[in-house]
Amino acid sequence: MSTDIERSISDSLEVNDVLLPHLPLLLQDLWVLGSSVDQILEVVGTLGLPNDSKVLDLGCGKGGVSIQLAAKYGFHVVGIDGMIPFLNEAKKKSVEYKVSQLCEFINQDINEFVLQEHEFDLVILAALGGIFGSFGHSVGKLRTQIRSGGYMIIDDGFLRKSDSHKRKGYEHYKNYETTLQELLAFNDHLIKEVSTSAVSKKINEEYMNFIRKRGYELIQKLPELENEIRSYIRLQEEECEVLENEIEGALWVIQKG
Ligand SMILES: C[S@@+](CC[C@H](N)C(=O)[O-])C[C@H]1O[C@@H](n2cnc3c(N)ncnc32)[C@H](O)[C@@H]1O
Repeated sequence: MSTDIERSISDSLEVNDVLLPHLPLLLQDLWVLGSSVDQILEVVGTLGLPNDSKVLDLGCGKGGVSIQLAAKYGFHVVGIDGMIPFLNEAKKKSVEYKVSQLCEFINQDINEFVLQEHEFDLVILAALGGIFGSFGHSVGKLRTQIRSGGYMIIDDGFLRKSDSHKRKGYEHYKNYETTLQELLAFNDHLIKEVSTSAVSKKINEEYMNFIRKRGYELIQKLPELENEIRSYIRLQEEECEVLENEIEGALWVIQKG
């Protein structure tokens, strides 16, 4: 029986309990796990945050976003994730990028972490989907983690044509108008919206090539998992298709009012 955090991690990475332990191997070629990191780095640069700013990265994965923010801007970053192998990789990378003194990586359920209020200058929720539920719920939680006037960055998207989506993990997706209403339900200020669709398409193609390659290698090593691995690859391909055809990728910067 999996715990809540295991279920949340499995859902966020669309993998079942059997494959979860093999995920670090399947995703070994990827540092950033789905977010539009270059656009996040660029948009953060426009906010005029001082070098000693404190950043929270919820579901930081291997630290692909946090570490590059620390390296580029000198920010102090705290990354929270429940996958220990990803956090170990993040710690290694922070040494490689010479920013380990600016980075703290914590193994914790993000649902638990946000129960306590914090005063970060910036909080990031990148490629985490509907882990906190609707966009309204996400913003409700994110804004408890920042000071007044602090920023929230959400890297996700909205539905191009329909009003809802049946796919598991896509329940939070809405049309553009509803998404914006939810994002701004607390009367915060939308500072910037950046389209990430073109970049995501490229990232997803690269992501799929690595996953296929590592998936087939794992089948050679563990033939008893062949069906599981093949269906994981199929599910990822299907997700890429849905993302490409039905979701408009967007990055929102919202300032807490
Ligand atoms: C798709 S990845 C995105 C990682 C990172 N933001 C990036 O773009 O590289 C989702 C991450 O969220 C983590 N995660 C999912 N649910 C979680 C939870 N409840 N608590 C902590 N981490 C969680 C997973 O372990 C995974 O590293």
